[in-house]
Amino acid sequence: LVNGQLKPWTGTTTNVYSSISSTESYQPTLLGSIPSMGENEALEALTSACDAYHKGQGLWPTMKVADRIECMEKFVKQMESQREVVVKLLMWEIGKTLGDSQKEFDRTVEYIYDTIEEYKQLDRDSAKFSKRDGVYAHIRRGPLGVVLCLGPYNYPLNETFALLIPALIMGNTAIFKPAKHGVLLISPLLEAFRSSFPKGVVNIIYGRGREVAAPIMKSGRIDVLALIGNSKSAIALQDQHPNKNRLRLVLGLEAKNPAVVLPDADMNLTIDECITGTLSFNGQRCTALKLVHVHEQIQDTFLEQFTARVDAMKFGNPWEEGVKLTPLPEPDKPEYIQELIDDALAKGAKILNKRGGERTDNFIFPAVLFPVTKEMHVYQEEQFGPVIPVKPFNDIQVLLDEIADSNYGQQVSLFGKDVYELSPLIDTLVNLVCRVNLNSACQRGPDVFPFTGRKDSAVATLSVHDALRSFSIRTFVASKDN
Ligand code: G3H
Repeated sequence: LVNGQLKPWTGTTTNVYSSISSTESYQPTLLGSIPSMGENEALEALTSACDAYHKGQGLWPTMKVADRIECMEKFVKQMESQREVVVKLLMWEIGKTLGDSQKEFDRTVEYIYDTIEEYKQLDRDSAKFSKRDGVYAHIRRGPLGVVLCLGPYNYPLNETFALLIPALIMGNTAIFKPAKHGVLLISPLLEAFRSSFPKGVVNIIYGRGREVAAPIMKSGRIDVLALIGNSKSAIALQDQHPNKNRLRLVLGLEAKNPAVVLPDADMNLTIDECITGTLSFNGQRCTALKLVHVHEQIQDTFLEQFTARVDAMKFGNPWEEGVKLTPLPEPDKPEYIQELIDDALAKGAKILNKRGGERTDNFIFPAVLFPVTKEMHVYQEEQFGPVIPVKPFNDIQVLLDEIADSNYGQQVSLFGKDVYELSPLIDTLVNLVCRVNLNSACQRGPDVFPFTGRKDSAVATLSVHDALRSFSIRTFVASKDN
């Protein structure tokens, strides 16, 4: 979708496969193909977004607020009519369970409606007249410019739209490149984008990062890099920009959220939450619990019950009843998880659950590794997949030092009963990360609350409330006359 036109594609294409097999003997299923765009198409999309921002009449950023809202409402209504096909593609493309795929779609629709309401409020509150030393200022909140928007494969709809929608409604224009997995599910929405927004406001391109995103960054004409993914890609893209100081960043990056299980924790609740936290969507969430610190006094009880619960989880296709574990969309992920397991075993950990490490098609059954130490790769790296490192502790100060030393700072889950005793710990933890979850797994939602992180976990804050501010700047017109 470039400059308001759905361009017919005659060039080369790239096949998109599902890690779900439709045959008895495992073979990835061919789902479709996408255009392999290159530099020319990328720069055409860029020019279209730049022109829509500042050239000609009736420009998107200068449009009346009510008109921009009308476009967004038109878009979300059309999007709602595509629920069935998008949910189906979420299951096939990224292996998300039926329930979670429906949740992702519905949550995105709700996010858009909430953003519209928040924007109305923000616009009312931010429009101000101010006077000082004989100068009158008419202050407004305005857009930042042209945004390059790149989303992740684990929430190809919801997280991408959590960037794109607030960026657009604030009056920015955008070039959006869908994630490699979860790319086809954008196709049913292309017509809604085309018919709801003026030409050039949103441009959607396909292709490899180095062929389409790199030339856009190199042009120096991008004002905002909006990305949810890993720091490596974010840094590589920033480095392409000829003047990095000019580039605004809205980045949601990696995390290694720990669970801390104290001796007086409610065991049943803790285990329920740790199962959800570590293994929802096979652990492929930036908010997943990626390290469990359990107090030595209760480690045996915890591990016995936890491993039994992990082994009882059902693997299968995303639409099957009761299935919690599903094929992994990235073909090389099981191998990577195996390497983490092998490294931990070589350094003294054991797999505690019977099924840990079993391979099925493009899946590896979650292994509970214990005792994990700092030297192991699974302690240091964001696994983003089904493997659960558990580390014993007996000194809370040593544990706090470890959390403080981490390169990441998104969230912590703290399990314990005595709130009076917990409170100093909560105060310390919330200054090391950005969200402390009491007796519950880490998560992003509800989407109205700030979603961010310290250190390598995020730059800027996302949420219905905060994203509008992250994608805007306060501007004003000054005059000497009232
Ligand atoms: O991958 C990171 C997502 O923001 C996780 O969101 O906690 O709603 O699953 P979630």
